Amino acid sequence: MNETPRFDAYRHTTPNAPMHHRADPFDAAVPPIYQTSLFLFDNYKELEDVFAGRSKKPIYSRGDNPTVRMLERKITEMEGAEEARAFSSGMGAIAAAVLAFVGPGDRIVTVRHVYSDAFRFFEKVLKRFGVIIDYIDGTDSEAMIAALPGARLAYLENPTSMVFELQDLTAIAEAARRHGVVTMVDNSWATPLYQNPLALGIDLVIHAASKYLGGHSDTVAGLVAGSKAHIDQINSEIYPYTGAKLAPFEAWLVLRNLETLPFRMRHHHEAGLEVASWLNAHGDVTHVMHPALYDHPGKHTFSGFGGLFSFEVSNRIDVADFVDALRLIRIGVSWGGPESLVVPAKAALSISPETNVFARFGVSDRTIRLNVGLHAAKDIIADLDQALSAAGR
Ligand SMILES: Cc1ncc(COP(=O)(O)O)c(C=O)c1O
Repeated sequence: MNETPRFDAYRHTTPNAPMHHRADPFDAAVPPIYQTSLFLFDNYKELEDVFAGRSKKPIYSRGDNPTVRMLERKITEMEGAEEARAFSSGMGAIAAAVLAFVGPGDRIVTVRHVYSDAFRFFEKVLKRFGVIIDYIDGTDSEAMIAALPGARLAYLENPTSMVFELQDLTAIAEAARRHGVVTMVDNSWATPLYQNPLALGIDLVIHAASKYLGGHSDTVAGLVAGSKAHIDQINSEIYPYTGAKLAPFEAWLVLRNLETLPFRMRHHHEAGLEVASWLNAHGDVTHVMHPALYDHPGKHTFSGFGGLFSFEVSNRIDVADFVDALRLIRIGVSWGGPESLVVPAKAALSISPETNVFARFGVSDRTIRLNVGLHAAKDIIADLDQALSAAGR
């Protein structure tokens, strides 16, 4: 009899099919949450088959859980990868992916404005274990490529998430392959809809699914996708042992929220561009850091833009007064959800200098990061306008 194996039931039937078009043993419109730590076995042989790799039945949810597996398969398809793993946070994904490839004496090449907690992971954790970190101006492809020979890993973020610097992923990926350097890109800002690093030759893509993929400020989650060989390395070296596994309910939330990703991203893209160009024309804004406004080869890897970007205000504006005058736009450090948010770099600069990426690599205290949420662009602009007027000296 040619039956579909029981534990392949959560295979997607069509790569981009909505969730309810996918196989489910009971044709559930929305997949179940397998809220269990444990899976049971009928006999010795069934258990032995799992350990011997002859069966894919899950045994314990720190390793595999069917709801989490659905999300892993979904991101595999969206990124054009062969495999993926889900973690309990973006940082869990970053830490596991990096630790799977580096050891004492290895060198990592990264971008100088890398996400602040990735920077702290490099500085506070990896350096203790003898890993060397090179921070390079990622916009300078020649400098990035010159730093690659002898490195073990290039850790990229296109664009970086405070000053939105770009890297030329195609050129860096090509050079990294020649020098045997593993490449990873944090793709949280563009999402798989607007940038596909694997298609450009990058080895591994990382997502803070807490941002656009989750998209509703209701979950913290991380994902890593890439070739089977690279994900196998993460599986065999790190994944089950550091324990940062995504929980089934959190995976279910991300899966559900992915259903609206194209609609949300279209809004973030369009409203983000409208607000960025309004700010760019404002007399009290000296600089807008939005990739659409740059002339850099790294820009051409995007088919659309996220709605998160920064701008710098003139000396006439008191940053604290401006932030306090906002009404619709709230103050908050995360991004990618429905809320429109600001984070003033000035506040972040008060973190102790040795672990402050903004202080170390020169982010101006007049920089303000703006998350264009799901509000109408005209409402966000009206709020920025009244707050800039109120904060003028
Ligand atoms: C660009 C970027 N990458 C990674 C992360 C880490 O994600 P998480 O907060 O889920 O650990 C963040 C979080 O702010 C981020 O902004």
